[in-house]
Amino acid sequence: MPPSSYDIRPQRPHDLALLDPLLDRTFGPDRQARTVYRLREGLAPVPELCFAAVDQYGGLLASLRFWPIRIEEVPAILLGPLAVEPALQGRGMGRALVTHGLAEARANGHRICVVVGEPEYYRPFGFVNAPSRGLRLPGPVDPRRFQAAELEPGAFDELAGGDGHIGRAEDARGAITAPTQLRNPL
Ligand SMILES: CC(C)(COP(=O)(O)OP(=O)(O)OC[C@H]1O[C@@H](n2cnc3c(N)ncnc32)[C@H](O)[C@@H]1OP(=O)(O)O)[C@@H](O)C(=O)NCCC(=O)NCCS
Repeated sequence: MPPSSYDIRPQRPHDLALLDPLLDRTFGPDRQARTVYRLREGLAPVPELCFAAVDQYGGLLASLRFWPIRIEEVPAILLGPLAVEPALQGRGMGRALVTHGLAEARANGHRICVVVGEPEYYRPFGFVNAPSRGLRLPGPVDPRRFQAAELEPGAFDELAGGDGHIGRAEDARGAITAPTQLRNPL
């Protein structure tokens, strides 16, 4: 029987054992072939931006994490994966997680968020088409699904004036974090 309520809380170490099976159930076993996995490879998620929806016994029902990336030299975050237990989809859990996650991201000073997902799903959260803003991922992606949102009004202005150089910069730990190319915004 599905749970009648759930809580959203920060992820805990013991959630991790349940996370991969949940992702396999929601995205399928070939999920790691996706371009966004290349962006996340070798990186840790943003610690304060890992969330779990859990039932009253602490069982993992849904998960949302964000990752540190750079758009040229501008820090940004990547949303995903967002995964809701298949039997519990369509009950508002995904929307609640994204709403909570973006609010926490704003509260922590993050200014730009990108995602690869259904535009119809992410548009209500303020996401717009990213390729038309000049952003490009370092690998194949359906341009319709690649989106970005300003978490603070005017944050996209920081991206204006880029030279179009395709950057794969390294952060202080030596991990690759620069996934995008900037062209002039339309
Ligand atoms: C996509 C997913 C995260 C949505 O979570 P959810 O809890 O099922 O969705 P919600 O109940 O919060 O839906 C909120 C709204 O989005 C709509 N919606 C749900 N899934 C959608 C999708 N794939 N595309 C477009 N709209 C969608 C719902 O109909 C609902 O609209 P309404 O308010 O008008 O009724 C979930 O279905 C899932 O895990 N799917 C498999 C993995 C996946 O595709 N993840 C997203 C990629 S990052």
